[in-house]
Amino acid sequence: MEYKLPQNFILGAATSAWQAEGWTDKNGRDNFVDMMYKAAPERWNNGIGPTIADDFYNKWSEDIDLMKKTGLSAIRISIDWSRFIDNYENATINEKGAQFYDNVIDKLNNIGIMPMICLEHWELPKVLYDKYGGYDSLKIVDLYVKYAKKVFERYNGKVKYFWTFNEPIVIPQLCFMDGFWYPYKTDTKLAMQWIYGKILANAKVVAAFKEMNITGKIGIILNPSVIYSRSELNENDKKAKEVADLFYWKSFMDPCIKGQFPKELIDLLKKENCMFEYKEEDLAIIKNNTIDILGFNYYQPMRVMGQRFKPAENMSFHPTKYFEEYDMPGKKINPYRGWEIYPKALYDAAMRIKNEYNNIEWMVTESGMGVEGEEKYKNEDGVIQDDYRIDFYKEHLVWLLKAMAEGSNCKGYMVWNWLDNISPVNSLKNRYGLVELDLKNNRKRRIKKSGYWFNKLENEKTFHYKTIDQEYK
Ligand code: BG6
Repeated sequence: MEYKLPQNFILGAATSAWQAEGWTDKNGRDNFVDMMYKAAPERWNNGIGPTIADDFYNKWSEDIDLMKKTGLSAIRISIDWSRFIDNYENATINEKGAQFYDNVIDKLNNIGIMPMICLEHWELPKVLYDKYGGYDSLKIVDLYVKYAKKVFERYNGKVKYFWTFNEPIVIPQLCFMDGFWYPYKTDTKLAMQWIYGKILANAKVVAAFKEMNITGKIGIILNPSVIYSRSELNENDKKAKEVADLFYWKSFMDPCIKGQFPKELIDLLKKENCMFEYKEEDLAIIKNNTIDILGFNYYQPMRVMGQRFKPAENMSFHPTKYFEEYDMPGKKINPYRGWEIYPKALYDAAMRIKNEYNNIEWMVTESGMGVEGEEKYKNEDGVIQDDYRIDFYKEHLVWLLKAMAEGSNCKGYMVWNWLDNISPVNSLKNRYGLVELDLKNNRKRRIKKSGYWFNKLENEKTFHYKTIDQEYK
């Protein structure tokens, strides 16, 4: 069947500063992820980390030409706060660092690729973290606002979409609640204080954006879990889903879009002694400064069921006290990343955004499939034949188009990533790019089959795929 995308539909890609740039000219100005890497490089796949990353800092100009060849109509980059600012307390600009972003943004505009800026993809400067802590500190919140204003002043008129944060739940969750990443803490109250601080910082930056009369839109990029219960007939499973939804969907969605935290979440946090500290006047800032547009990152759904085991009494609180992850038999899985592939979740999320969040304007800001050992899919010309990735994109677009036909206000679909990239721990094990990064050959770039396909999709705005009924037979 033939599918058509609207002519003005944004087809692009996303990347981030620490996953692309490398440390040239950083002179030890580490950010939070650099710190995570330096604390335990041996935990990262083959010890590969942000040191060189994609070397985008040096290769940005040829890379932008290559982005054009893969048909990107937009690219989301992040600005590395630790590179852009010189003196964090006064937010004076590091001219050399800022010049790099000027060059990138100017060339993107000249070549006809719309730049989108994300202010923070976890690049909190390390020295600030050492001195004040993270977003649990109101001082950090205010320094972040100062930095954001400098970015707005410099790029006003050159950039149409500004995003405050990328996946602001990830660092509090993985570093401070689950203990998976450095500094390996399991302190839910601290994680909630970070979450609250990021929500307040988002609102303050939205307020500054409006006060400064910046052109374009301001949004936040979230990764809310699309949650399914094992069975809607089982009361424990339903309850499990409700609690997971409070933490992993509503915690950011509600305050950033509706201006308010869900009462059930606040009640639960108080009951579990994990309530964050707040000031009434800050709640008013959150209420009055909601986002214009939502960025939605989606990789896999979350399936839950009722908790079968009682957690030990002396354990510090974690949301999984109320639910367990459900490993659904027969689910389709990406065996490399271990993540379920369930494109219908995009449709379900779209309908929820439409019905519960006043049909706010939104776009998919990350969607992708990480695959290991892609060299084995090379043809005789050395081009990776990643038909699995093309199918992955098509099946997600099919469900998105269905949602749009039913009134969802979705404006675009951005893939993760345009070029293979590093990430914490898995670093370049699973490859996501439309373009291959050849580590053995001085990080040479080579367009994959999906890159040529994406270019065709952007030019023609049509593609062929099975119908939803055929896919789910
Ligand atoms: C998203 C992040 O959560 O997932 C990216 O915004 C990250 O930074 C991506 O790279 C894929 O995750 P991973 O661990 O498979 O690289």
